[in-house]
Amino acid sequence: MKLIIGGDEAGRPLVETLAAHLRAQGHAVTDDSANQTDPGERYAGLSERVARRVLSGEFDRGILCCGTGLGVSISANKVPGMRAALTHDVYSAQRARLSNNAQIITMGARVIGPELAKSVADAYLAVEFDPASHSKANVDAIDALDARARG
Ligand code: RB5
Repeated sequence: MKLIIGGDEAGRPLVETLAAHLRAQGHAVTDDSANQTDPGERYAGLSERVARRVLSGEFDRGILCCGTGLGVSISANKVPGMRAALTHDVYSAQRARLSNNAQIITMGARVIGPELAKSVADAYLAVEFDPASHSKANVDAIDALDARARG
């Protein structure tokens, strides 16, 4: 799978752990973390960039990391059409794709340990949204709310 991953200063150790793990599994992983191009970049800018690169179709899915996973999730979800899910357990990671068709998951490097984070990422990437499932109507409703909120 073609993946993009990014994190702020607090998230970078987890980004590096996950990028190495996912590459070892054969995924093509681009690290688009903050501070590589702009030392002053905040997690909001990083999250917007990664979200737009996923929504454009350049990448299949993304993973964002910060200290808690919250800032990057909140920020990515400001981009129209993005459904970024904070996931710190395997079940939620699976459901993020199966129920919510999340294009990005987020994690907090100060919240989750590296081994569980790898399992969370694996669980998310192992499943695919089924447009024929009952969840389709819920995802469509999210997108309709998004469209209304944007005017
Ligand atoms: C560190 O700046 C920390 O606040 C940030 O990485 C993130 O956890 C915010 O949500």
